[in-house]
Amino acid sequence: MPLSFSTAFSATSLILHLLTHCVSSLDNGLANTPPMGWLAWERFRCNTDCVNDPHNCISERLFKQMADLVVSDGYQDVGYTYVNVDDCWLAHERDAYGRLQPDYERFPSGMKALGDYIHSLGLKFGIYEDYGNFTCAGYPGILGHLETDADTFASWDVDYVKLDGCYSLPTEMDKGYPEFGYHLNKTGRPMIYACSWPVYQTYSGMTPNYTSIINSCNLWRNFDDIQDSWQSIASVIDYYGDNQDTIIANAGPGHWNDPDMLIIGNFGLSYEQSKTHMAMWAIFAAPLLMSVDLRTLKPDYKAILQNRKIIAVNQDQLGIQGRRIYKQKGIEIWARPIMPVFKGKYSYGIVFLNRRTDGTPSEVSVTLKELGLDHIEGYHIQDLYDDYDYGIVTPDRRFKVDVNPSGSVVMIRCNLYKGKPINNFIEATRDAQPRKDESGYVVDHGNIGYIPNADGAHPLGGRFPSRPVEPQSRSHGYLQHHQLQYSPSTTPTSVAAPAIGAYEQADHGFSFQQLGAHSTVPPYYHG
Ligand code: GLA
Repeated sequence: MPLSFSTAFSATSLILHLLTHCVSSLDNGLANTPPMGWLAWERFRCNTDCVNDPHNCISERLFKQMADLVVSDGYQDVGYTYVNVDDCWLAHERDAYGRLQPDYERFPSGMKALGDYIHSLGLKFGIYEDYGNFTCAGYPGILGHLETDADTFASWDVDYVKLDGCYSLPTEMDKGYPEFGYHLNKTGRPMIYACSWPVYQTYSGMTPNYTSIINSCNLWRNFDDIQDSWQSIASVIDYYGDNQDTIIANAGPGHWNDPDMLIIGNFGLSYEQSKTHMAMWAIFAAPLLMSVDLRTLKPDYKAILQNRKIIAVNQDQLGIQGRRIYKQKGIEIWARPIMPVFKGKYSYGIVFLNRRTDGTPSEVSVTLKELGLDHIEGYHIQDLYDDYDYGIVTPDRRFKVDVNPSGSVVMIRCNLYKGKPINNFIEATRDAQPRKDESGYVVDHGNIGYIPNADGAHPLGGRFPSRPVEPQSRSHGYLQHHQLQYSPSTTPTSVAAPAIGAYEQADHGFSFQQLGAHSTVPPYYHG
């Protein structure tokens, strides 16, 4: 059974359990691709001071302005649809009938009117509540009012409900989240149901029951709140990579992992890191909820948010979440199977991510076959940020990408090619040869080969046929050198970690220049 109950439960709770188990299963037909829209929280937080800061406070004015801009600045045209209120919209007290009400100082027209306004623009209206006694910011929670609140949201024509989990017991969530989902369903109004159920359970030491979560929620948070920094984005990327075998299988049309909102255009990310944020959220099949001030967004960042090619990967109909298939020395490769499919093979969105901080672009040279893309006729490869078309590339052909440092990406789309065989036409500058130089270690910054998972399986995971591990022709590549030089008795603490980013520290200062001088095992080699 997906729901866990304490041993002593009453007849009433048994009936409720059967009821919710039978009818709560999410069947609202929504979120067949990850939802896209605008969400207030990360950028505007709980600013309720409309007296001193009328421009930025959580108020109907702010949401109407953002809704206007979603339309007038072209976001709606590329797929952004929802305008979502987050915490701090509420009055501190329910009304005389026990119903939620907004703070009428800041939402004088009421929530139904705000929803009407958003709908009049062809957009959809999202709202926030909390499965607890209070919201995270201390406003009334839904406990004790589940049915009333679901009915209230339906009466306001809400299209999307984010249900947070502060001030509640994670042990109650297996019962409570489906129960509220049941009440949402019962209203008859289709509303996306965004849950925070697994993240609160994980942080309290529980193992989330994803079978049940998928059946109840359209999306769910499973990690930290996003903050305005590269460190925050990087920690999400690591969480999604390190836990991919647990979480990826849960994603699919109608039910998505939610790594939290987009912070592109705010203060904490460089331009390159912003491109990475967008690219990785496409690989993750993540909801794209912009939390940014659309009134002041600079054109470069707007262009990232409106990149149709990357949005197309994010919104791919197959709904398969991507995986990290390579991680060495600050270079990562991520791959997401996408349409079109042909004879059981997929097309792919591929991200080459460079987290090194040594200041110069790293060359990553790879064949598609090394990445597991072995369709014999080849793939049509396009760069998704630069206007560059690699043409048709066959699986054995080696090509290279230069990836800028400090959290930058190159993102390509590899579409299965179905025509009769033709020649590759990679330009000389993108062409690459197998490494011949066997003497030095520092030849370039990342010659990528086929690296199996720790269990020897194919890095693209169980959905894909496993292939034998093919040693690279350049047998003195990084990996083998490292393996030869590792000494189990060498403790990482014997190496002075340079005082740079967290990533490098975790890597124990392991850099190409230091190869041979130190022999330490970066953490991801363990086990
Ligand atoms: C939690 C959520 C955030 C936001 C705040 C609001 O921290 O994870 O996304 O909704 O609450 O208080």
